[in-house]
Amino acid sequence: MLIDRYKRIINYLRVSITDRCNLECIYCVPYGGRTKLLHKEILRYEEILRIVKTGICLGISKVRITGGEPLTRKGVYEFLSKLTSLDGLSDVSLTTNGVLLKQNIDKIQDAGIKRINISIDTLYKEKFKKITGHDYFHLVWEGINLALKKGFNPVKLNVVALPGINDDELTAFARLTLTNPFHIRFIEYMPIGADIINTNKRLLVPEIKAYLSDIGEMIPVKNGINDGPVMRYKYKGAAGEIGFITPISNHFCSTCNRLRLTASGHLRPCLLSDRQVDLKTPLRSGASDKEISDIFLKAVACKILEHNLTAADSSGIIGQMQAIGG
Ligand code: 5AD
Repeated sequence: MLIDRYKRIINYLRVSITDRCNLECIYCVPYGGRTKLLHKEILRYEEILRIVKTGICLGISKVRITGGEPLTRKGVYEFLSKLTSLDGLSDVSLTTNGVLLKQNIDKIQDAGIKRINISIDTLYKEKFKKITGHDYFHLVWEGINLALKKGFNPVKLNVVALPGINDDELTAFARLTLTNPFHIRFIEYMPIGADIINTNKRLLVPEIKAYLSDIGEMIPVKNGINDGPVMRYKYKGAAGEIGFITPISNHFCSTCNRLRLTASGHLRPCLLSDRQVDLKTPLRSGASDKEISDIFLKAVACKILEHNLTAADSSGIIGQMQAIGG
């Protein structure tokens, strides 16, 4: 079992399979710009599968595939099939920006993925281009609607609350759940991306909730076993749900159950701390399963109690979101 110094049980591995992305979201591009990993620097699929298998033996039961944009990596559907076929995983999910969703939805489904999260921060075409740098608004929404139609359940939409950028749309996003079975997740912006976001303006969950209360009473929904730190609510009679993820205003470190495997093959105990343990070098020098297990234990042992990121301060975090996986 993977248990850290603070008695937290680690059973969730988030795996970034690539640092490449077909969007350039303003909040994700790191200070100093992007650097791309070379092909040989990113883990091969077989290496990822071996690491996941070792994780399963240590109690990992839940895996989420992220990026970068995971669907941009060649061979991803075959990899997903192999992953979902592994014994011991109760949940395999995918986070995508939705650009490649429409054309690949059957392949994703055939690979055994049932739950997807799609990142979408605006309901306007022009703003989408401003946020992401690309004109794929309609394509992404077509993908989202197709995912619903094909029976993915739930279809979660990740909306990062961006002060000065989409504050005026949060109510409209929440209203979508009245008639559509989306689960909208409002995520507090973590200031580890570009300076373009106005972090002097507060747009944390208390402010977001104040906007949304106009729509009607928000009835709390009990968290399910795969839910993680979200606070779930539903409007009376609504088809879908809303939820809040509060890394800043009410961090959930005390219940953190995760480790991250970066695209470059490091185990990272906390998204918001640059501490990480190299797995790729030992793996490529012939490490035994026992040695790989020991690296998992080492990563868990250096999990910090809690991060100290605030709404305006990202000091100390240099890691790039797109290689860590959000
Ligand atoms: N703050 C909050 N959320 C972020 N994400 C990416 N960068 C940030 C940030 N700086 C979100 C993405 C994606 C999820 C995995 O993480 O929107 O939905």
